[in-house]
Amino acid sequence: MLRKEQNDLLTQTGPGTAMGRMFRSYWIPALLADELPENECPPARVKLLSERLIAFRDTDGRYGLIDEFCAHRGVSLWFGRNEECGLRCAYHGWKYDVTGQCLEIPSDPEASGFARKIKLRSYPLVERGGVLWTYMGPPESRPPLPEWEFITVPHKQTFTSKRLQESNWLQAMEGGIDSSHVSFLHRGDLNTDPLFKGAKGNQYNLTDARPVFEVVESEGGLYIGARRNAEHGHYYWRITQWVMPSFTMIAPRGNHSVHGHFWIPIDDETCWAWSYDYHPIRELTPEEVGAMRDGKGVHVRYVPGTFRPLANRDNDYMIDRTAQKAGRTFSGVDGIAMQDASMQESMGPIVDRTKENLASTDNGIIMARHRLLRAVKALVDKGDVPPGVDPAHQKVRSAAIVLPPDVPFSEGAREALIARPSIAPASV
Ligand code: FES
Ligand SMILES: [Fe+2]
Repeated sequence: MLRKEQNDLLTQTGPGTAMGRMFRSYWIPALLADELPENECPPARVKLLSERLIAFRDTDGRYGLIDEFCAHRGVSLWFGRNEECGLRCAYHGWKYDVTGQCLEIPSDPEASGFARKIKLRSYPLVERGGVLWTYMGPPESRPPLPEWEFITVPHKQTFTSKRLQESNWLQAMEGGIDSSHVSFLHRGDLNTDPLFKGAKGNQYNLTDARPVFEVVESEGGLYIGARRNAEHGHYYWRITQWVMPSFTMIAPRGNHSVHGHFWIPIDDETCWAWSYDYHPIRELTPEEVGAMRDGKGVHVRYVPGTFRPLANRDNDYMIDRTAQKAGRTFSGVDGIAMQDASMQESMGPIVDRTKENLASTDNGIIMARHRLLRAVKALVDKGDVPPGVDPAHQKVRSAAIVLPPDVPFSEGAREALIARPSIAPASV
């Protein structure tokens, strides 16, 4: 449970808010690189942390992320002409470069120097691992570029998608660190989804629905260990990584690719669920990539031409009550990602955390909230750089591992929780 002020603090990320300042301390994913596929391609609308922006790729291939609205009289630059190293407003032709600097005001006498005095708000936009990243904080505090393993492996080993989620970022992220729901909500998919099935660990998930949670602080966030019974008195551990503010990495299954999410606020009532899938030591197979594009695993199918899931709240997520009754799926909603999204969106845009009743399986969520509250306070009161900004905190892995009963996961999986190039992930 949180007090109302705490819930407001954690869920509001617009300009001038404390949590908004925290998100503005990090490089965050803004667009898929495919959304700006070539030089002088059409610009893309981007809303992040309640700010409306336009992304474009100029004649020389430079990326820019600038205020959506023209400094002249506020027209959306989405209509603009992307030409000759700048984006030209379609209304009266004012032209801006990737830094937001106005280059030209065609109706004004050139000698007046008026254009030089006009500059739109802008943020850096950098491609890494097929994702365009931005940093929306003060330029003097800009951290080094992100080093998550899924963006540093060769591109044939990694696949990333994004989907619109119609809820606040925090309840979405809390689903990513609550692995106890897997034994219920996703039980129908563990043995059928092509990106999950066949792993030995799935059976531990299905036979032991009462995991014991152990949560340990890491440098960048938390290790969230869920312990289930295995054979001969041993324990099957699934260890989720949470790195602040909103990176999660789910424990792997067998030789499948490893996946996880970023939950990035669009505004306070919607967020981007970024979903990556990669394998640290091998290329993804054409079948795996095909399944990901087809919306399997943590990915979804879309309403054509959008990033809105095809199953969404307007069609009740295409719930199939027959499948629910027959136990083919636990909730009747098809697909792991939409099973999660339907539950989280059903809470309403911002869940009222003053009314919840948390259980022992919610320990990861409780500790994550505390860690966020502590870090926000340290940032606002003392200017402390929050955990997870340092690229060293980003070189992490989740793990699935069977350990003897007397070995704590933080010891038994110590090496496995670090991203080490060319070393296979610990997976069961
Ligand atoms: S509103 Fe953009 S040039 Fe006039
Ligand atoms: Fe889930």
